[in-house]
Amino acid sequence: MPLSWVEIDLEALRHNYFQAAGRLGPNASVIGVVKSDAYGHGMTAVAKELVTCGASFLAVSKYWEAADLRHHGVEIPILVLLGFEAEETEDALLSRVRPAVFRMDHARRISAAAVKHGVTALVHLKVDTGMGRLGVPMSTVPSFLDELLALPGLSLEGVLSHFAVADEWDKSYSDRQVERFQEVLKMVAARGCELPYAHISNSAGILDLPHAHFQLVRPGIMLYGSPPSRELIQPADLRPVMSFKSRILQLKEVLPGQPIGYGRTYVTERTARIATVPVGYDDGYSRLLSNRGQVLIREKRAPVVGRVSMNMITVDVTHIPEAMEDDEVVLLGCQGNARITAEEIADLCGTISYEIFCSIGHHRSKFFLHATPS
Ligand SMILES: Cc1ncc(COP(=O)(O)O)c(C=O)c1O
Repeated sequence: MPLSWVEIDLEALRHNYFQAAGRLGPNASVIGVVKSDAYGHGMTAVAKELVTCGASFLAVSKYWEAADLRHHGVEIPILVLLGFEAEETEDALLSRVRPAVFRMDHARRISAAAVKHGVTALVHLKVDTGMGRLGVPMSTVPSFLDELLALPGLSLEGVLSHFAVADEWDKSYSDRQVERFQEVLKMVAARGCELPYAHISNSAGILDLPHAHFQLVRPGIMLYGSPPSRELIQPADLRPVMSFKSRILQLKEVLPGQPIGYGRTYVTERTARIATVPVGYDDGYSRLLSNRGQVLIREKRAPVVGRVSMNMITVDVTHIPEAMEDDEVVLLGCQGNARITAEEIADLCGTISYEIFCSIGHHRSKFFLHATPS
């Protein structure tokens, strides 16, 4: 048994998938966003479960992630959100992976590779409707489209864009993005191109912007059981997928006035029982949780006292007299009715649940629970 470990509940993932899919009309389906190791949840296992659920596509950031999925037998279409690097273009095409295209030199390179191998490259045009990050700017979409559609060996399978603030109460900016997106779709149609897929909605768009579902949606965070924000108008019933657990490695009684941990940032005021738990920032438990985080022991909350170090934290369990060495410690997840959420940890760290999942997800010991038998 490892000293600490991460559990991934694939039944909860399935539940969340159907929360997303259940919001869609009959003509829309799901691109499961599994980039960044499925937000730390384990890309291959998550991808296979999403395929079983009925996902039509998967999305990753980089081609090597798609290659890894193919290597593990995942056959459904995969979209690479950051496009292909020059040296991987031919391999990527031959493994039927689709690039997002936002640069004409990339498009030309993909076209040349497709012609060379006698295949048709299916590409998704990425347009910037207001995020200001990645995509062809609105002003240059017409000329980009003209050139793209004239390239040999290349077929426009999709057009995509990304919301900047779909998770905020005020949907006016997102509505403007949808309008611009529709303008682009009209430009595509005006050029005689029958486009199979348009997609713009992330989790927040799926939940709050039903008029923006088009033919595909791209849920990420909601699959992993965390709401994209607290400002949603139509929140979903989501179940956390990731838990982070450990055990009490040592329990000791200390006298008043005892400094705890590096920097002596916590000093006991009374006789206290201090549990040492073998997790630290190397395991993704942020140092920002020093003297702030809480964990669950015997279904009760216990505060982290002193600094989080690389491989250990110290927890005050004076108020839990039944606590013993080797007791389970939950750092993220449920114990009985008690629960510590990624949103709670994110708030303490001044970040978002996405980053908490990615950090803890780097943990070396990961167990997958309730997988659908293949
Ligand atoms: C292009 C793109 N689509 C979809 C998503 C999924 O977003 P979310 O996790 O908020 O559902 C992301 C995530 O960052 C993204 O970059």
